[in-house]
Amino acid sequence: MDMDIGDRDTVFPESIDLRKIPAHIAIIMDGNGRWAAERGLPRHEGHRQGVETVRETVRNCNALGVEVLTLFAFSTENWQRPDWEVNYLMSLPEKYFESELPELVRKNVRVLMIGDRKKLPRRVLKVIDDGAAATNSNNGMILNFALNYGSRAEILHAVNRLVSEAAAGKQVSRVTEKKLSSYLYTGNLPDPDLLIRTSGEQRISNFLLWQLAYSELYFTGVYWPDFDKAELLKAVSVYQLRKRRFGKV
Ligand code: IPE
Ligand code: IPE
Ligand code: MG
Repeated sequence: MDMDIGDRDTVFPESIDLRKIPAHIAIIMDGNGRWAAERGLPRHEGHRQGVETVRETVRNCNALGVEVLTLFAFSTENWQRPDWEVNYLMSLPEKYFESELPELVRKNVRVLMIGDRKKLPRRVLKVIDDGAAATNSNNGMILNFALNYGSRAEILHAVNRLVSEAAAGKQVSRVTEKKLSSYLYTGNLPDPDLLIRTSGEQRISNFLLWQLAYSELYFTGVYWPDFDKAELLKAVSVYQLRKRRFGKV
């Protein structure tokens, strides 16, 4: 067996119950710009440091035994940022995969992407597709990047697919929750158990509106570049203290 598989020998504090790890963690990685501004640095330095946090978070989630990690990297609204910043953000997937792909392959991580591919530069799609292809047969943690992702657009896309199928006579019965869920970009992925948002903002910003229906929400004032292993473990231990009721008593 591959000795490197999954960092499973990593030691975690006793406050973490390894039998109650959230299967799907989704993260709104926010606060890169403010992290940089507070240090008198240009915003892109915050994004650069944010990529380091992505590397570490992927390793730590994999070691914890998380099954799906969804990272909100670029929203459908983020195109409204200055061109230089959009371009910088679009250069990051390449930077990340260049250094991390061999390790992801080795650690049995499978790469996926959710979002609207149409507006994304070909270069970005290529690195994501190459990453997905190289890890296609892996069956460990799913690393799911939300890129040009907007939840309302996602729901509309699903509804329009259903409408066209109905118009073509392919779909006559009523639409069920299961059917609509399966037409979202998240397809057959489980809903997130835990949503983390860094930087102190307490909003969803058009992320996974349908899928978050019963997720536990965790907001921290820590900026994304400072969200280290200790902060991740804090979020997981807070999650483990929550009582999920799903409407029951
Ligand atoms: C998160 O940090 C990165 C993206 C949204 C792409 P921000 O760039 O939003 O940082 P703040 O919120 O301005 O501090
Ligand atoms: C949400 O952060 C999007 C990502 C983290 C990719 P934003 O910084 O864009 O969100 P708002 O504008 O503060 O709601
Ligand atoms: Mg922000």
